[in-house]
Amino acid sequence: MLSETTPDDEGTPEPPARDRRAADRVTLRADLWAMLPEAGVAFAVTAAVFVLLYVRVESGDSATVAVMPFMADAGTYWMYLLSQAFGWSALLWAWGTVMLGLLLSGQRPAWLPGSPQALERWHRTTSLTTMALMFAHALMFAAELVRYEAALGWAERLWVGFADSFVPGWYDSGTGRIAIPIGQGALYLAIPLGLLFYVRHRIGANTWRRLHRFVIVVYVLSVWHTLLYGTNVWYGEWPRTVLWLLQLPVAVLLVVRLTRPARRAERLSPSGWRSGRASMPGWALRAAGRVAAAAVVLGLVAVVASGHDGGRERPAEAPSTAPHAPEGE
Ligand code: HEM
Repeated sequence: MLSETTPDDEGTPEPPARDRRAADRVTLRADLWAMLPEAGVAFAVTAAVFVLLYVRVESGDSATVAVMPFMADAGTYWMYLLSQAFGWSALLWAWGTVMLGLLLSGQRPAWLPGSPQALERWHRTTSLTTMALMFAHALMFAAELVRYEAALGWAERLWVGFADSFVPGWYDSGTGRIAIPIGQGALYLAIPLGLLFYVRHRIGANTWRRLHRFVIVVYVLSVWHTLLYGTNVWYGEWPRTVLWLLQLPVAVLLVVRLTRPARRAERLSPSGWRSGRASMPGWALRAAGRVAAAAVVLGLVAVVASGHDGGRERPAEAPSTAPHAPEGE
């Protein structure tokens, strides 16, 4: 999720030495300090979402309660609701930082305000905030499981909460058998792919950049996890449609980023591989990437327009089983 204007060995002119030194001076400690005001905003957003989810449970409008009727008591299940709230703020920040990263890593649009340094720092701080929110989401889920398993001893309760939330493959009920490892995959990939930026002088700027591209996988896994598992977007109603719709600008920016790359070596001229400037597999891979991104845009439009978004029909009667209820599973 981090981006940087760095020199490369692929034919792009290097930035002035003064700018390079400034970029090299960026440390994790400095970015963590810079992130604090934004983290405050993120916690305020989380608190607002939490209040909304709480009120909806109390009023009987909650889709989560429609899916899992035993959750009708918001006072008891507040940690679960807080986990959901952190999930939403994490997804919102992930969306923002991916959008910013795509805007900054291609040919920068003229309308984008702010200096490159300020925008790149913002991209780094939004990435760090996203990781913190993702972790808080999983941690509150673990806390809820620890609270729930009151019949067990403390050591066992802590182990169950930790293992079900953080050990891939441990959670063994319902949709969670697939959805939880997908979420864990997003979290565990986000951390190295984001933090490697701060050791790029050791691994090399090009290695870092090549690895960092895979951060889009973190985002895809996060959205997939939410569509698969989020009870507030369980039914084929407007919240699910909005979630799908929000992916459209990301996919469009990805197409733009791929078709108008900043680095000459990434451009796709039809004669590129024939003239020997690009290898055939490399050229084919770049072409396939552009076609796949364009197909995703068309797919998203089709999903939103057709309403075939994977949402369930809300049943007239509450279901007797739940996708990830602690009880009876
Ligand atoms: C260790 C990793 C993770 C665990 C254990 C986990 C656990 C869960 C659980 C149990 C739910 C179901 C909550 C519900 O009833 O709706 C859920 C939903 C959700 N998760 Fe995760 N998750 C993880 C990673 C992530 C990541 C990386 C994101 C990305 C930002 C994320 C975002 C969400 C969102 C937005 C929801 C929907 C909440 C709702 O419907 O209100 N999760 N997650």
